[in-house]
Amino acid sequence: MRLAIIGASGLVGGEYLRIIAAQRSGVTEVIPVASSRSAGSSLDLGGMELTVRDLAQFDFADCDYALFCVGDELSREYVPQALAAGCHVVDKSNAYRMDPQVPLVVGGANDGVVTPQTRLVANPNCSTIILVHGIKSLVQFGIRRIWVATYQSMSGAGRAGIDKLTNEIDEYGLDPQSGRADCPEDAIAYNVVPGIGGMDSELRCSEERKLLQETRKILSMPDLAVVPHAVRVPVSVGHSMAVSLEFETVVSAEAIAEAWNRDSDVLYRSDALPNPVAASRHEMVEAGRLRAEDGIGNGWSFFLSGDNINLGAALNGWRLLSLMRAHHQNLEAKAG
Ligand SMILES: NC(=O)c1ccc[n+]([C@@H]2O[C@H](COP(=O)([O-])OP(=O)(O)OC[C@H]3O[C@@H](n4cnc5c(N)ncnc54)[C@H](OP(=O)(O)O)[C@@H]3O)[C@@H](O)[C@H]2O)c1
Repeated sequence: MRLAIIGASGLVGGEYLRIIAAQRSGVTEVIPVASSRSAGSSLDLGGMELTVRDLAQFDFADCDYALFCVGDELSREYVPQALAAGCHVVDKSNAYRMDPQVPLVVGGANDGVVTPQTRLVANPNCSTIILVHGIKSLVQFGIRRIWVATYQSMSGAGRAGIDKLTNEIDEYGLDPQSGRADCPEDAIAYNVVPGIGGMDSELRCSEERKLLQETRKILSMPDLAVVPHAVRVPVSVGHSMAVSLEFETVVSAEAIAEAWNRDSDVLYRSDALPNPVAASRHEMVEAGRLRAEDGIGNGWSFFLSGDNINLGAALNGWRLLSLMRAHHQNLEAKAG
């Protein structure tokens, strides 16, 4: 398998390189691709130096699979080129997620929508992936409504987001007398920003729309009520969310805990609090603080944390590529 990573010099691209270096299975060549700014520079793949190629000059006939981790506009321009060259693509941008012809997949939740004919799979928004892992084993109990407030880290805005956080921490401080932050009101250091992405006329932000629409599509529940609230917080890596669910029937804490314990993507922490620092050190969604919600009929609340770059982006993309590849290997075995 010749594999191109489009956006290899970014946060998600770097995580893909780390995962591939650890797993390698069947990869004969890895081709890192980015902008002309990075072209010619080197990236590390498990001790091997790879030279970055310029996307504008890249011929997709040189690869069999392409993992796209660039912005929407670049995906709209180059994914069709990759498909036309015969490539199979996993795209991390927002460009194709709601296209009815394109499967939108959280590995382990709805793998069945990837078929032997699938050439393009959309990798969902990082918060959607974390939410879906946290609730996919609870769908069996009948979910009527979801309230979710996110606490999203700055790495969700790419390298530029991490740079903004570290620069502001370096630049600003606290007033020693009052303890109040000495920073502009739009800073993220010492602050939170209640809204991520463009807001519509009703003050709903794009991140909230993604969480609603993508969760419905992945779970095949077009009428599911989702009440999202997206907030950016001064955390480097790891998205968290406070979730409340209204179930259709009475569900016990033991049943929820058992469902989580059976889900290999979920680490149920009954004796400690989920948090982004802990969750960014492994490849599962942490779930905890499970408690009955008196104000909601058949209601339960809990907290989730997950690594947005790994579990919420590259690891899911790698799982999606592996799903496509397994189909191709089956077809080749039948043909041969
Ligand atoms: N970070 C997350 O947690 C996360 C989660 C979900 C989704 N995503 C999505 O994943 C994608 C990548 O995110 P990221 O966090 O890895 O972003 P990032 O760290 O900002 O990296 C962006 C990548 O895009 C490349 N790029 C930018 N302009 C380019 C151009 N004109 N031609 C070719 N390559 C270009 C950059 O290359 P240069 O270094 O050469 O500029 C870099 O490799 C985005 O669509 C983002 O919305 C990210």
